[in-house]
Amino acid sequence: MTDPLLSRWRADTPGCTERVHLNNAGAALPPAVVRDAVVSHIAREAEIGGYEAADESAERIQETYDAVAALIGAQPRNIAVVENATVAVSQALQAFDFHPGDVIVTSRADYVSNQLMYLSLARRLGVRVRRAVDLPEGGVDPESIRALLAAGSCRLVTLSWIPTNSGLVQAAAAVGAACRAAGVPYLIDACQAVGQVPVDVEALGCDYLAGTARKWMRGPRGVGFLYVSDAALARGDHPLFVDMQGAVWTGADEFRLFDGARRFENWEFSHALVLGLGAAARYAADVGAAGMVRARALATRLRDRLSAIPGVLPMDRGAERGAIVTVSTPQEDPAELKERLRARRINTSVSDRDDAVIDMDEKRVTSVLRFSPHYYNTEDELETAALALEEELRGG
Ligand SMILES: Cc1ncc(COP(=O)(O)O)c(C=O)c1O
Repeated sequence: MTDPLLSRWRADTPGCTERVHLNNAGAALPPAVVRDAVVSHIAREAEIGGYEAADESAERIQETYDAVAALIGAQPRNIAVVENATVAVSQALQAFDFHPGDVIVTSRADYVSNQLMYLSLARRLGVRVRRAVDLPEGGVDPESIRALLAAGSCRLVTLSWIPTNSGLVQAAAAVGAACRAAGVPYLIDACQAVGQVPVDVEALGCDYLAGTARKWMRGPRGVGFLYVSDAALARGDHPLFVDMQGAVWTGADEFRLFDGARRFENWEFSHALVLGLGAAARYAADVGAAGMVRARALATRLRDRLSAIPGVLPMDRGAERGAIVTVSTPQEDPAELKERLRARRINTSVSDRDDAVIDMDEKRVTSVLRFSPHYYNTEDELETAALALEEELRGG
């Protein structure tokens, strides 16, 4: 290996010496700086007390907001730190007083937990869920979003930019332009996007953007964030169940919201994980576009390589494809293959039908094997994984 950047990234990543980690869409291997930020704070809490350690680290906690904001083209006041992307989406949805007949416009590829939340709103409040049609090559058609917006009653457009179960990258900015033109709020689930593709909330034209630390950002598990635009804050948006982190209880029957996105947070959070999120955001900024370009190039290479293996069917669609590679293996259960590859120290993952009912039914598969290389993976690792899959399909 001669590329000095790649050598540095790998030297920074203790886990990559032990295994071939191709499950970055699940949770990436964190760099040592992230691990150290988390572990040292936990140690400090044990040493001096949790509240005391929080006071001591107040400045570094603030730096997490600075780093996350910088990564997505926002200001620190626009960032709320929450447990994960699902909580971020749910906090954003709580900002809307939906009434029966209100429409939520979304895509056919939106994430399972988000779809469940829309359906729950439909069941409980009579909200109508309208899904835009896809382009022939896959992925949401922004013209279909425009048509649904023109039909009226739409309170919110919400889009999973990059779905969990395929290499599809949806046209998030084009959807944002349609929302802006119609004056309808726009929520982006960027869980698989932050760290994989450049994110600029102004260019996307979104009111809300949800992210998680553990995937392409290479942060710890159990922490994520919600971006809330100045426009949404100025509207007075806040979650239904605001807590004392988000508002001051000013009188028996009154409360006053805090100015920034912290009104979407809960008071209690893991300071260790927040520090880990900050370290990850700084590391991701340092790696920059070179990492994203490399991850995608590795995925393209792997997609081509796997497609040439007998018994492997490529499943990714869309004009634009990212760093997630999915294949179906009709003769073998992908869950079995995942286990057998893990026994060889190769980490992959599986998406099942109920992770993405619409897409998987359309593809007529119940399960796919998912490979998600990141920039710290090597070309040799891809070949190792492809050869191992070939062998397993031939019967080990
Ligand atoms: C597209 C997408 N959205 C949202 C989520 C949920 O993220 P979290 O588990 O951090 O809530 C995932 C997780 O895999 C995802 O792939």
